[in-house]
Amino acid sequence: MSHTPGEGKHRAQWASSLGFILAAAGSAVGLGNIWKFPGKAYNGGGATFIIIYIIIVALIGTTAMMAEFVIGRHTQKNAVGALRQLNKKFSWVGGLGIFTGFLIFGYYSQVGGWVIYYIASYIICPSKIFADSQAFFYEMLGANGFPWLGAIVCPLIFMGLVIFVIIKGVEAGIEKINKVLMPALFLLLIVLTVRSVTLPGASDGLKYLLTPDFSKLDFDTVLMALGQAFFSLSLGMGIMVTYGSYLKKEENLVKNVGLVCTLDTVVALLAGFMIIPAVFATGVEPGMGGGFAFISLAGVFEKMTAGPVFGCMFYLLLFFAALTSAISIMEGTVAYVTEEKKVSRKKATALIGVSTFIIGILYTLSQLYASIKGIWFDFANGVTFPGFGDFLEFLTDRLLTPLGSLTFCIFVGWIWTTKKGIAEVERDGIYSFKLKNVWAVLVKYIAPLAILAILIGGMVFGLALS
Ligand code: PFF
Repeated sequence: MSHTPGEGKHRAQWASSLGFILAAAGSAVGLGNIWKFPGKAYNGGGATFIIIYIIIVALIGTTAMMAEFVIGRHTQKNAVGALRQLNKKFSWVGGLGIFTGFLIFGYYSQVGGWVIYYIASYIICPSKIFADSQAFFYEMLGANGFPWLGAIVCPLIFMGLVIFVIIKGVEAGIEKINKVLMPALFLLLIVLTVRSVTLPGASDGLKYLLTPDFSKLDFDTVLMALGQAFFSLSLGMGIMVTYGSYLKKEENLVKNVGLVCTLDTVVALLAGFMIIPAVFATGVEPGMGGGFAFISLAGVFEKMTAGPVFGCMFYLLLFFAALTSAISIMEGTVAYVTEEKKVSRKKATALIGVSTFIIGILYTLSQLYASIKGIWFDFANGVTFPGFGDFLEFLTDRLLTPLGSLTFCIFVGWIWTTKKGIAEVERDGIYSFKLKNVWAVLVKYIAPLAILAILIGGMVFGLALS
């Protein structure tokens, strides 16, 4: 009898080291790198933000990623099962991560659907986008009726693709698709970056990205960079526990953490160099908020020779990035349901697909009602969320993801102990973990304190972390 990956005695494993690295990098490289990073780099002072971001990834991102990988590789279990095996009282740490992933998947698959809508539109009717990019975006969200395409059809196509890959399993599905999509993503990114930096007038953008101005450095910028780093590296949801759990024991974790973090950061930087010089060159008003990728960027493509072709390439790039990340988010939940609840992989995927899809529809509808039809939801405590969508993003990106990372770091640092974590990396002296003492200090003290700063800074002082 053939076994389904994630179930049964023989647990699924990555077939190759490269396959794992590309899958983990595929999880990390997502909407966060291409949609969010350039906007944050722009708002955070360009080079200043970039330097802070790199320091944070190198010190705290790698530390927290190692914490998740050691838990996963040691136990070879999903996030909840892994924590339960190590200490029964702490299985909720994995549960919190799974719950966060479940919520994020709802809106992530909606945005993935919008990206499909834009790929098709840049092929079929680019002039309609260029005529009024804002009206075009809102039309997709249902300004003139129910958003059938924006909330149902396109997200369903996106979700269908994710489900297709997940059902195929870890090696035949996830590993295979990442081996194709990640190189394609890099290729598209390089073509688009070269196009952007060679546009007449791009040099001002380059200067902005390369000349630090430390007078712009403040607490808010550091917190923004911290929050972005966790989201971008897919930390705090137990996804890296799950992906690490499919790793063979003979894999070198130090090398893998280094490569995944480097790839993710290189893509974010390239995305900055792809977008910011083009924005400067074309004089487009860089309102770098959520609508940036869908509204402002149309102005850039409109002014470029062969703009619709580059537009289409850009959304294809965004689509590849979103798809490989969405797959990882769903896999984290599917691994939990199949292993802990003993449900078949197909059933688990269908169940999670349907329930997160409902959350997703609410997300798009809330954008519609809050932004277009002027109905706003007021929550208590003096916080006003313009709709369920913003509430969901606030809850997941700013609260639950850092909280998840905090609990994973504290668990490894204080409960399971760094000694056992280091032993998992070293594998009886097969690998040397030269920075083990530094990692121990980082995971016990520095990373938790930094994450607490994001949480407290964001909540109490209301700093702009988006
Ligand atoms: N890292 C992804 C991005 O940058 O878009 C988003 C993400 C994926 C966050 C998976 C968390 C996660 F577990």
